[in-house]
Amino acid sequence: MKRVLSQSDFDRFAARSPAIARHRMIAVSVTAPSAEPFELPAAVATALARPFRRIVVFSGAGMSADSGIPTFRSGNNGLWKEFDPQDLATPEAWRRDKETVWGWYEWRRGLVSKAQPNPGHVAVAQLQREFGASVVTQNVDDLHERAGVTRVIHLHGSLFAARCFACDEPHELGMPQAEAHRRLMPPRCARCDDHVRPGVVWFGESLPEEAVRQASTLMRQCDLLLVVGTSGVVHPAAGMVNLVPRGAPVIEINPQAGQRSSRIDHSLQTTAAIGLPAVLRRLRAPA
Ligand code: OAD
Repeated sequence: MKRVLSQSDFDRFAARSPAIARHRMIAVSVTAPSAEPFELPAAVATALARPFRRIVVFSGAGMSADSGIPTFRSGNNGLWKEFDPQDLATPEAWRRDKETVWGWYEWRRGLVSKAQPNPGHVAVAQLQREFGASVVTQNVDDLHERAGVTRVIHLHGSLFAARCFACDEPHELGMPQAEAHRRLMPPRCARCDDHVRPGVVWFGESLPEEAVRQASTLMRQCDLLLVVGTSGVVHPAAGMVNLVPRGAPVIEINPQAGQRSSRIDHSLQTTAAIGLPAVLRRLRAPA
C-alpha cells in the first residue's frame, strides 16, 4: 500500500520503513559493480556489426540502479510503491505541503550525491568519446555527467537545478540535506521571495521545450538507439522511441523482460552495468 507522508512520518521514516532504510544503506555503501563478461546474443552481435554515426542512448531510472539509486517502478523497492506521486510529484502537492515535497527531493539529492557512476555510465561516456553518442535521459540525477558525458539532455529536469516556483529564477543549492527524512522549509527566491522548488518535471507539467526539441531531432536522425533501464510508461518521453527511423536497430537493456515498445528490435535481459560495456566492446570490435 502506498504511504501518504505526514509531518511526523518524515521524522521517523528511516526507522519505520525497511525500504527506506535499505535505500540509505545502499547509498552509503555504493561501490561500482564490476562488469561481468556478458555474451551478446548472436542477433545483437550481428546487428552491431557495422559502423554507426549517430548513436543515441536513452536512459531511465534503471540506468542508475546499479549505483544504488532506487527506481520508481521495479522490484519491491520502487519509489512509487512506497510513496504516492500525488503527494510528492505534482504542483498541487507543492501548494498543499511544500515542506514535505522539498524534504523528499532533498533526501533524493543526498542519495544521488553519495552515489557513484556505475560501469554502465562509464560505458556511455566511452560511447560518446569514441563514437560520438548522444545521451537523452529521463533521470534527474547527474551520474551521466559525473561519468564524463559532456552534454546530457534531461527530459525530466534535474535535482540540481532548483528554481523559483513563481518566477523561475534559478537558485544555487548548497550541500544536500541528506538526512532529510522530514519536512524541510524550501529556500526563498533572491528575486521575488517566493519559495524555491525542485528543478524536476512533475506530473501534469510540460517537459522543457528545448530538451524535447533536441531529443526529438536526435531520435529522428539516429542510426542506433540503446534504450536503457526504463519501463517506458511515462509519456511523452516513452514515445520518443517511435521517432527512430526504420532500419536503425533499437536495442533495449533491462533485466526485466517486457513488451515496452513494438519499436524495440532486441532486448538484452541484463543490467546497465553489464549490458552497456558488452555493447561497447562489440562496437569496438565489430568483425
Ligand atoms: P521506472 O522505475 O519506471 O523503470 C525502471 C526500469 O529499469 C524498469 O523497467 C526496470 O526493470 C529497469 N531496471 C531495474 N534495474 C535495472 C538495472 N540495473 N539496469 C537496467 N535496467 C534496470 O523508471 P523510468 O522508466 O525512468 O518521472 O520512469 C519514467 C519516469 O517515471 C521517471 O522519469 C519519473 C517517474 O515518475 C518523473 O519524475 C516526471
